[in-house]
Amino acid sequence: MTPPGALDALADLDDLAEVGRDRDRGGYSRHLWDDAELELREWFRARATALGLDVEQDRNGNLWAWWGQPGPGALVTGSHLDSVPGGGAFDGPLGVVSALEAVGRLRRSGVRPERPVAVVAFAEEEGARFGIACLGSRLMTGSVDPARARALIDGDDVTLEQAGRRCGFDTDGLGPDPERVGWIEQFIELHIEQGRGLVDQGSAVGVASGILAHGRWALSFHGQGNHAGTTPMSDRDDPMIAAAQAVLAVQRVAGATSDGRATVGRMSVVPGGTNVIPSEVRLWVDVRSATDVEVRSMVAEIAAEVGATSFRQESWSGAVTFDPDLAARVAGVLGDVPILPTGAGHDAGVLSESLPTAMVFVRNPSGISHAPGEFAEAADCAAGVAALETALRDLLR
Ligand code: HGY
Ligand code: MN
Ligand code: MN
Repeated sequence: MTPPGALDALADLDDLAEVGRDRDRGGYSRHLWDDAELELREWFRARATALGLDVEQDRNGNLWAWWGQPGPGALVTGSHLDSVPGGGAFDGPLGVVSALEAVGRLRRSGVRPERPVAVVAFAEEEGARFGIACLGSRLMTGSVDPARARALIDGDDVTLEQAGRRCGFDTDGLGPDPERVGWIEQFIELHIEQGRGLVDQGSAVGVASGILAHGRWALSFHGQGNHAGTTPMSDRDDPMIAAAQAVLAVQRVAGATSDGRATVGRMSVVPGGTNVIPSEVRLWVDVRSATDVEVRSMVAEIAAEVGATSFRQESWSGAVTFDPDLAARVAGVLGDVPILPTGAGHDAGVLSESLPTAMVFVRNPSGISHAPGEFAEAADCAAGVAALETALRDLLR
């Protein structure tokens, strides 16, 4: 029997089940300030308000639902609402609905916190529209320059500034928010595990120890556009060849680095005609490993080998070690659940540079994520809500 609270959290996920469904790719495509993400924002406002929380949007587009007067000493929980293209239903939203449900259960149980509590939904965590991961939390902590952010462009050559203006958000205010960061005493994020660590350890929930170092690089290969039929193979300067060799180099370098991971998941061909030799091929590489040095070394090796016309860092997330005391406290109060690392980046990782943060993972039977097959059992989602409620209750003691 699934405890009532989890049913509410799962009911919330059901409420969102049709928002941003991607009929072409499968799964969900919910990107900063697109129609789906704006609908999710409205859902968050309504759901949090119905729980008696006071909702505000900060200067960087992050949504905050407060229990108590915003201010120092705050215990904050939450995650993100946006997705990768064709992503799963749980990555992000599970953390938000679970946080709302856990806070709702604390309120209904008569808890009277002596400090502020908030549920947050960070903006552009996936960086799927404008390229920088965890953009909302990074702008807040000052690790991304606001002028650079305003000038970021999406796949339709729309700048972040224009996109904000189209939905009534003034990006002139983007930038570090040290007062707000200073309010946060602890941040705890619930997230579906993106991997099978909890399956292997036979636990419904776990606590994060750290995050791999990871970054994103944009490469471009230029050549001579030409006719596919009238250009002999010996007369071609086809950038697709160099791009294809680059993909193989990425795979080779990552395979030669222990626990190194590198992915080319996105490519664009200019002009993109079937009967046209391209003039340019752009591709993006996501590189991850246990340490910053290993990632930098992998990237240097790839750059030296591929001969790209341009090779530009787009996003960088150094390796994260979560606050060991907070991780131990949360794992302890949950009954000594596993403490395990992850290869996935999170806003909790960004905030860990400024304050004690923790993550609670919910078991993912297949480990699949960033794909329509992402899934968590109802009973494990229930365990996640109960775990988050327990951790919050303990931290409010
Ligand atoms: O890419 C990541 O690791 C995260 O899901 N944003
Ligand atoms: Mn993700
Ligand atoms: Mn996520």
